[in-house]
Amino acid sequence: MNELDTLVDRARNDFAQAATPADLENAKARYLGKAGRITELMKGMGALSVDEKKSLGASINLAKQAIEAALAERRQALADAEMQTQLKAEALDVTLPGRQRGAGGLHPVSLTLERIEAIFGSMGFDVAEGPEIESDWFNFTALNTPEDHPARSMHDTFYVEGGSAKAPNLLRTHTSPMQIRHAVQHVKRHRAAIDADAGMPEIRVIAPGRTYRVDSDATHSPMFHQCEGLWIGENVSFKDLKVVFTDFCRTFFENDDLVLRFRPSFFPFTEPSAEIDIQFPTGPLAGRWLEVAGSGQVHPNVVRNMGLDPERYIGFAFGMGPDRLTMLRYGVNDLRLFFDGDVRFLSQFR
Ligand code: DAH
Repeated sequence: MNELDTLVDRARNDFAQAATPADLENAKARYLGKAGRITELMKGMGALSVDEKKSLGASINLAKQAIEAALAERRQALADAEMQTQLKAEALDVTLPGRQRGAGGLHPVSLTLERIEAIFGSMGFDVAEGPEIESDWFNFTALNTPEDHPARSMHDTFYVEGGSAKAPNLLRTHTSPMQIRHAVQHVKRHRAAIDADAGMPEIRVIAPGRTYRVDSDATHSPMFHQCEGLWIGENVSFKDLKVVFTDFCRTFFENDDLVLRFRPSFFPFTEPSAEIDIQFPTGPLAGRWLEVAGSGQVHPNVVRNMGLDPERYIGFAFGMGPDRLTMLRYGVNDLRLFFDGDVRFLSQFR
């Protein structure tokens, strides 16, 4: 093998050893650079005769072309390798399962409210909603709780701006104001028939919603829910209250053996009044009386404030706590869990 063939071989070897484009350029300089072997060989030809120049020149050129070809090949190989590495690094694994959006669900208290509405709806009750910022009149006075009445201290009220100094606006402490609001609308609609002594369709309504009191512990939250019920007609008695509410509780808890107790109590807007307790025959709460609602026969003053004659129109009302019903139904022991917004808790009700 002559000197030129050896040179080409060495160059090929050097290029193959170059692991990066920078290494390769350094290797190239050793052969084709200003001080490279090929360049030196060319310079050395000056001293030769014309014939020698011709034959050696041709050989050097061939060697130079071979080295340039080897260089180009190696350059391409390095570029290809780099491209492969980059593609691998940026590769998408299309077989990876996507990150899913969690399935949403209704809040447990909303589930209870829907359930209450469905059950009372099946008994012919309308559903009414009203304002959470309420006037003193609807929250207290119209419900037979005049100013300075001791019963007002039963409610720790949040007062808000608006209203008058004597009758400030407030966050409703119960849903009972809806008794008046709804009945007044109903009476307005049927005023002509009522005045003509033709009577009116019965008022049968529930009013679920948020209520507020200054109170906070494991069983009280400053914001909580209530659901009011009202049935007014010409012949609606306490017996109807017992039937309706017993039916409701047994349906709600899916337990026909549930026992109810109507315990005498006091509310300004009802007379007589009763607290309603329930008792489960079996299960973890068996044997305990659990208070679920206040109730009573609507007080004549309240009927009057609805725009009706209490000598003719009579009925019952009740107010229950959907938060508590939810706790009893699902066995939740801390009310605050409902309002913490912890998905680990809430997702159990999906
Ligand atoms: N409003 C009462 C409360 O907040 C609950 C209540 C009791 C409502 C008796 C009624 C009722 O309609 O008749 O404690």
